[in-house]
This record gives sequence, C-alpha cells and structure tokens, in this order.
Amino acid sequence: MPAEQLPPTEAPEVLTVELGDRSYPIVIGSGVLDELGQRLKQVLSPRGCAVVTNPTVAKIYLARTLRSLREAGFAPLTIEVPDGEEHKSLASLKLIYDRLATAKIERSSPLIALGGGVIGDLTGFAAATYLRGVPYVQVPTTLLAQVDSSVGGKTGVDLPAGKNLVGAFYQPRLVVADIGTILTLPRREVVAGLVEVIKYGVILDAELFLLLENEIERILDLDLSRLQELVRRCCAIKADVVRRDEREADFRSILNFGHTLGHAVETLTGYKRYLHGEAVAVGMAFAAKLSRVRNLCSVDTERRIVGLLQRTGLDVAVPAGLEVADIAAAVGGDKKVENGRVKFVCVEEIGRARFEMVTSQEIGRLAVQGSAEVE
Ligand SMILES: NC(=O)c1ccc[n+]([C@@H]2O[C@H](COP(=O)([O-])OP(=O)(O)OC[C@H]3O[C@@H](n4cnc5c(N)ncnc54)[C@H](O)[C@@H]3O)[C@@H](O)[C@H]2O)c1
Ligand SMILES: [Zn+2]
Repeated sequence: MPAEQLPPTEAPEVLTVELGDRSYPIVIGSGVLDELGQRLKQVLSPRGCAVVTNPTVAKIYLARTLRSLREAGFAPLTIEVPDGEEHKSLASLKLIYDRLATAKIERSSPLIALGGGVIGDLTGFAAATYLRGVPYVQVPTTLLAQVDSSVGGKTGVDLPAGKNLVGAFYQPRLVVADIGTILTLPRREVVAGLVEVIKYGVILDAELFLLLENEIERILDLDLSRLQELVRRCCAIKADVVRRDEREADFRSILNFGHTLGHAVETLTGYKRYLHGEAVAVGMAFAAKLSRVRNLCSVDTERRIVGLLQRTGLDVAVPAGLEVADIAAAVGGDKKVENGRVKFVCVEEIGRARFEMVTSQEIGRLAVQGSAEVE
C-alpha cells in the first residue's frame, strides 16, 4: 500500500519546547502532514508563505503539503534546492533569498522546511536572516531530522572549509513530524537516524535503550507505532535538553556523545564513505570503549552499546588505515576543544553520561588499537 493511503495508527501527540515566549509545539503522528495548514493556522494567521524542499522530497510530499496549506487559507510559494549535503551552501541560501525577494515575501510570512536535516538547517538559517528574521516551520521527513535536527533551533550552512561553519540559533514556531514519511526513506537513512535514537538512550534514557534492545527488529521493519514512540521520546529528551541549555553553554553538549570521533571519521574519509549516523555509530562504540578503559563504565555496558549498534547491521569498527596523528588532528580541530583537551562525553551506565577532558593524542592512540576488542 502506498504510504499516502496508510491509515493513521496512533492519535497525534503534541509536545512543547518550553522557551518562554519562544515556546513552540512539536506535533508527532502518522498522517499529520495533512494537518500542517490547520496546525500552522493555530500559530500564525493565513498569509503568503514559502515551502523550501528538494526534488526527492517534493516528488513524494509536496502536493500534500501545498494542499493542506491552501485548504487552511495560506498562499504557498515553492522553492526547490538540489538534493544533497553539498547544497547546504551559501549558493542555495542566495537562491532562497532571491526567490523570497522576487515574491515580495513579507516579514510575517513563514518559511516551511519540508525535508531532512539539510533542508531544515538551510531553511532555518534563511529564516533567521531574511529581513532580519521571518518565522519558520520544520516539517522533518527523515528519522534523523524528526529525532534531532528539527528541534532545538540550530540552523546553518556549510563552507568549503568545513561543516556548519555559518549559522545561528533560531527556533522554529512549529514542528510537524509525520511518522509516515519514514516509510519512503531508504533503509540506510533509517539506520543512520536510529543511531541518534540509540544515542539518546545511552546518555539519558535507560528505558528507551531497553525498548530498543527488545524491539529493534520491529523498529527496523518500520512498525509505525514503535517509530512514533521513539520519535516522541527523543523529541521529549531533546526539548528538555534545549530548555535547560538552549545555546550549548554546557549541558547541551552531552548530545555530542559519539560525535567527537564520529566527526573525525567523517572528515578523514572525505564525507563520502559514511552517512553522519554511520560515523557516529563508530564514534559511540569508541566512546563506550574509552569509558570502559577509564573504568567509568563496565564491560557489560560497553557490550550492550556495541551489541545494539551491530544489530542494526552497522559496522562500528574504526576504519583501517587511519593514523594516530590524523585522528588527533581531526579531533583537535573540533569546536569543542579547550586548552588542547577535548570535552569528551563518556558513559557511566546506560542512561547516564558525563564529560571527561581527554587529549586528542589519547583519542588517536586508543582509536587505532581497533574497536572490536570486546567480543
Ligand atoms: N540542526 C541540528 O541540530 C542538526 C542535528 C543533526 C544533524 N543536522 C544536520 O542534518 C543534516 C543531515 O540530515 P539528514 O540525515 O536528514 O539528511 P538529508 O537531509 O540529506 O536527507 C537524507 C536523504 O533522504 C532524502 N529524503 C528526505 N526525506 C525523505 C523521505 N521521507 N523519503 C525519501 N527520501 C527522503 C533526502 O532528499 C536526502 O537525499 C546534516 O547537514 C547535519 O549537519 C543538524
Ligand atoms: Zn549527529
């Protein structure tokens, strides 16, 4: 049955990101894309608006999005940028600004990001900067965007010199996460998104981790009610982290678990071999190992983390051929370095994490020792 005809499995759920007068709802459910216009009307009165998307997503979801917006009285313009991380760029930003200016989009008119994290980050940054800020709405269509990038207000684009180097904290007015969109996502993207779900379990939610251990096969079979539960739990965790530390002064960087080595692996393999989530899986297995080597967690905790990642089909070994010095340099170039030491997120037990200051050399040395030691 095509995704569009699937009956909703569960009632939609609504969470709130509590940020005072910038608080906003996250609507989660199967089929909620068709409610976008009505939901938006509760936040902003109907007017002109612009849907930013890419051809891959547009082919499947644009017609429904436009229909829902028009039925609620909005007058949407569509802006398509090419698909791919390489288009999370200043060139795409310029394309968006030009289209908005030509269409005389006004300050009160929202931008609507229809797509994965690339579209979400790009649209959010365009919204943060066009006319010094217009409202925007996240309509995440990948698992990663639903559990991570659409919530929390980090927006931005890449430069040739590195990822996410230009950006702003700018919160959306509404997030509408239609679980049904995951049904059309390539499996590799689903698994990459699941890695971030596993991450939330490891650092902040032992019950979520247990649920994943018990249900991972059903989840990989895209059982919609299980997926909805995962997205809801992850959004609740992210909303709470953002409420406590919106601008990543300290606590929010707990979400960086697995990302220190993960980013290094992505950089050193030229962003070609791994999807982000796949590299983070390597980084999470490594973070568990480093935690165990430092006696911060038990062998059993490390085994559970590595075991769950492997059950998704991922290879969590640090890729062969990387040199200690290269890893150390890549890790040292990360945004989270203080006085030559990296603020590294370690696990103490499933559901509990803490920061440790670790040198990039130590990370490099331990990483090349191989990550599949615990069997
Ligand atoms: N802002 C944040 O807090 C934050 C957090 C994590 C990641 N990110 C950013 O998110 C980006 C990665 O996001 P992503 O993993 O969603 O990748 P993506 O946006 O590139 O989407 C992955 C692929 O899936 C396609 N796609 C999207 N939805 C689909 C659907 N429902 N059916 C079929 N195909 C679909 C896309 O066109 C793309 O080809 C990176 O740029 C990363 O930096 C941002
Ligand atoms: Zn990530």
